[in-house]
This record gives sequence, structure tokens and C-alpha cells, in this order.
Amino acid sequence: IVNSVELQPATITVTGAAGAIAYSLLFRLASGEMLGKNQPINLRLLERTEAMQALQGVVMELQDGAFPLLKNIVVTDDADEAFKDADYTFLVGAKPRSKGQERGDMLKENAAIFKEQGRSIDRVAKSSVLSVVVGNPANTNAMIASYNAPNTPRTSFTAMTRLDHDRALAQISKKVNCQVEDIDRFAIWGNHSSTQYPDLSHATIRGKWAWDLIKDEDWIYNKFIPRVQQRGAEIINARGKSSAASAADAALRHMRDWVLGSNKWVSMGVCSEGWYGITRGVWTSVPVQCFGDGKFGVIRDIPMSKESASRINKSIDELLQEKSMVKDLLPNQTLRGV
Ligand code: NAD
Ligand code: LMR
Repeated sequence: IVNSVELQPATITVTGAAGAIAYSLLFRLASGEMLGKNQPINLRLLERTEAMQALQGVVMELQDGAFPLLKNIVVTDDADEAFKDADYTFLVGAKPRSKGQERGDMLKENAAIFKEQGRSIDRVAKSSVLSVVVGNPANTNAMIASYNAPNTPRTSFTAMTRLDHDRALAQISKKVNCQVEDIDRFAIWGNHSSTQYPDLSHATIRGKWAWDLIKDEDWIYNKFIPRVQQRGAEIINARGKSSAASAADAALRHMRDWVLGSNKWVSMGVCSEGWYGITRGVWTSVPVQCFGDGKFGVIRDIPMSKESASRINKSIDELLQEKSMVKDLLPNQTLRGV
């Protein structure tokens, strides 16, 4: 039986395409790991002019992979060309931090990139485009991009905190000796930074309250939470470079769940609408459920302990500080719907 239904290719833009994360991401996109083995794709790759030669090498490798689903590759240093008719964008291109720096230290160097790219996405991408910001500081960069894209729904720009989420699941599964997929109702709140709050207070393992199974508050407060908060730095200290393959994996899962749906809670950095008293208009990580086709719902009305609220507030304060540092890059103060 011949399957005669040929789907139209989806257009995926990846920025920072000659960088370390993209080197793990692109080949997995080409092999159909994001949209499935029947969905052809076109790749549009954006880089700085100086990195175009290196990017040509990556393109040669993509060609050599002979991926049946990969129909076309565009390589450019022009944002409008890269984002033209994009369905999905991975905004990865930005400088990573080095040993001893915080992610927020990258704000001055990276923030301007997201102003330009937000404007470009608004101009030339499909109106249904979905964008995930990976480049740090991811939450504030997603906010900058969205503020500069006034005709694109604010819910179309998300910041990646999925890596923190997955790091936490891995730590929990090791602690209680369960499968990662047994864990649900876990959440990362706040900034993708060392103030983030990895929240176990609602988590379940095979339907049972995780707190009761872990039975070790010392581990939760003094090992688990700081470890997840500091995992990026731990990797930089060990590798001398920031996480790349795990970041690419998280970006792929983030987008796949956003597009195809998730049957569990996942964490995404999204524009606050004021839930749980979180200031509107900052991009905070929250637990969400994805319904497919770019639709998601923030998990609402879960009880919030004083301890959790105070940890979340600390991270939101940091996001507000970052916002005040980039106010010159936020021209449209009245964001649609905020
Ligand atoms: P990298 O230095 O290997 O690659 C970044 C690439 O971006 C470079 O090739 C650079 O030329 C390119 N670039 C810079 N400015 C650009 C622009 N304006 N347009 C297009 N391309 C541009 O870095 P990496 O390891 O791939 O990391 C990329 C970013 O992702 C860093 O900011 C890093 O901190 C961040 N990161 C975020 C997470 C997360 O969980 N959110 C995880 C890991 C890394
Ligand atoms: C990470 O969490 O690994 C990335 O954000 C890289 C970093 O600077 O920590």
C-alpha cells in the first residue's frame, strides 16, 4: 500500500546554527524527532557573518546525512531571510557564560540580538509562528523578543526552562529509584537562573505524593533544590563549556510538546498574566499542560505554601531587575493582552 499523502514541509528557523547547541539540535530535527517521521521540514539557519564558513561545514554534514525528511536548507546572516515564513523558531544564537559568571551577566551582550530578531519575526514569519528562546538570559530575552513583535501573540514566545525541569526529574528518579516517566506534577518556577524554584511540593510518583516517598527534607532543601539551581554552573566547571547536547534535547522536547501536546505537567517560561500574584509581563517559568498546535494552559489554582511563594517571589524580583536593565529595548509598553 502506497501512502500518497505528502505533507507540506514545516519551516524551522534555528539561530546560532554554527554553535554547540545547534550542532546537536539540527541533526535530530532533520531526522524527524520533533515533528514525527512523516513530516518533511525546511531548515533556515541564521548565523553571524563571521561564522558563515563554519556553518557551511554544518550544512555539508546535514547533506551527508541524506535525511529523507529534510527538503531544503537556507543559510544566511540576514534575520529577515532566516525567519521568512517560519512555523517554528529556535532562538539559540547568543553568547554563553563562562566559569564564574551568572546568566544575567550576559544581558548586556545578548539582549540586543532579541530586539532585532523579535522585530524580524513579527515582520516575516507566519502569524502562527512558535518561538522558543534558548539564548541566555532566556526569560528576559524572550520578553524582549515579544515586546518587539507587537503583532505576534505574546503566547508565541516562550523561554526554555525544560532543561531545568528534566534535570530535576533525573535527580528525583535517581533518589527514589523510579522511572522518569513515573513522575508528574513537578514544576520549575521563575527565572532560568540560580534563583529558580524547583518545586516538589505537588509532585507525584506513580500517583503517590513524592514528598512522602522521598521522606528526606534535608535532601530536598539542601541537595536537590541547590543542585538543580546550580546544574548549569556545575556543567561549565566540569566541561569548561556550557551544556549543549542536553540543552538541544530540552529544546526539542519543549517544542515537540508545545506542538504535539504533553500528557503531563512541563515547565515553560511564559508571559505572566498575574497568576499566583506574579507580576504581569515578565516571562516566568510555570507548570503548563500543552494541548497541541501551540496551545497551552498554565496550571492554575494549586495551593501555594508560604515557603514556595517566597522562593518564587525572589526569582520574580530578579526578573523585574533584569527587565529594568533592558527597558530601552522594550518599545511597546502595552503588550497585546497583558
Ligand atoms: P555557542 O557559542 O557554541 O554558539 C552560539 C552561536 O550563536 C555562535 O555560533 C554565534 O556565532 C551565534 N550567534 C551569536 N549572535 C548571533 C546572532 N545575532 N544571530 C545569529 N547567530 C548568532 O553557544 P551555545 O553553547 O550553542 O549556547 C547558545 C546560548 O544558549 C548561550 O546563550 C547559552 O548560555 C544558552 N543556553 C541556554 C540554555 C537554557 O537552558 N535555556 C541551556 C544551554 C545554553
Ligand atoms: C544551562 O543551564 O546549562 C545553561 O543555561 C548554560 C548556563 O550558562 O548555565
